[in-house]
Amino acid sequence: MKKPRIVVAYSGGLDTSVMVRWLIERMGAEVITATGDLGQSKELTGVRDKAYKTGAVKAYIEDLRKEFVQGYVFPALKAGALYEGVYPMATSLGRPLLAKLLVDIARKEGATMVAHGCTGKGNDQVRFEVSVAALAPDLKVLAPLREWEFKSREEEIAYAHKHGIPVTATISNPYSIDENLWGTAIECGILEDPTVEAPADAFQQTVAPEEAPDEPAYVEIEFIRGLPVGLNGKKMGTVELIVALNDLGGAHGVGRIDLIENRLVGIKSREVYEAPAATILHFAHTELERLTLDRSVFHMKTQLATEYAALVYNGLWFSPLRTALDAFVDETQKMVTGRVKVKLFKGSVAVAGRSSIYSLYNTKLATYTSEDTFDHKASEGFIKIYGLPVKTYHQVQKSGSGNGVAAKPVKHHPVPESVK
Ligand code: ARG
Repeated sequence: MKKPRIVVAYSGGLDTSVMVRWLIERMGAEVITATGDLGQSKELTGVRDKAYKTGAVKAYIEDLRKEFVQGYVFPALKAGALYEGVYPMATSLGRPLLAKLLVDIARKEGATMVAHGCTGKGNDQVRFEVSVAALAPDLKVLAPLREWEFKSREEEIAYAHKHGIPVTATISNPYSIDENLWGTAIECGILEDPTVEAPADAFQQTVAPEEAPDEPAYVEIEFIRGLPVGLNGKKMGTVELIVALNDLGGAHGVGRIDLIENRLVGIKSREVYEAPAATILHFAHTELERLTLDRSVFHMKTQLATEYAALVYNGLWFSPLRTALDAFVDETQKMVTGRVKVKLFKGSVAVAGRSSIYSLYNTKLATYTSEDTFDHKASEGFIKIYGLPVKTYHQVQKSGSGNGVAAKPVKHHPVPESVK
């Protein structure tokens, strides 16, 4: 009988290495590993070798950085999507793309199953499985970590040793880390205690604000239709631009986020994030929108940003709602072209100037000098009519009539016994 083929999302870490072997043993399967380069700093050179040593018949390593930035990160940036107001969602945005990678390779290799290394209590299992269901409903998704016998890292390491799987993991590294171009997520260990400040060794890519330089750094970001295209007057590729802002922001302690967040599976968890480029770009992008968007569009967009973030976080990237929201957002971005200068200083980002050919800021209307052209007298009639409903309401409350007929003040009717 032909062996079943499984495409496994593979990072080269302990969980996914053990998973490759476990699937071979348990299912008598041929395992093909799929590793996506989303710009994680971890070297991927040893990963292929390790996959083969662990028993894979084929190992794919795909550079997905550009696709990640242009197809996933930038739509979320334009939408202003920050989960629970703060988290730029590096992990949440990466999962649907990795799910797509699994599906693409499964198609190419004639596999009938894909597998991921997520646990049974996180958001990532949902993101993988909903995304695969959307893209390839016929593929079966396996989640070995939800069902296997290992109860600790020690047991996994023992299994790895028994099967000659090379492991670099030591029992002492206390953190679970997920990293890509858009940021790093760090959890577990002492971070599980929400009363404790995150210790220095938890951070991977930023210096502590108090250790950042005493001189601020200024950087001017150029946007075209809501997308960053250059820094300090120099046009840059998308990946290159994010890398540069990660380095600069990280050196100034920018982008640390310590969050108690609501997971889709119903629990609160504590996660620490580092996202220098994401923090700077979201900040600058919003500043440019403050300048260029019509008031009602800006306000509506702020509301939709919350929805957008929630759907991405909750694994619904490949949903019709996301496509529809993208269409709305793209319409709003037509005028989001211009430059924003930001100041990075000891962990903070501040605006230091903004300009746009589409700026709706009109100095002649805003100024308090003799240049003022605002029609002050027109305000009088405006306020009279604008405030009329509120005025009428309070008149009735005080005098019992809105018709100008003096009457007794309104006595509120008591709630009848029968409906209490
Ligand atoms: N809580 C984040 C999310 O659901 C990150 C999850 C992965 N975190 C980690 N440290 N491995 O998007």
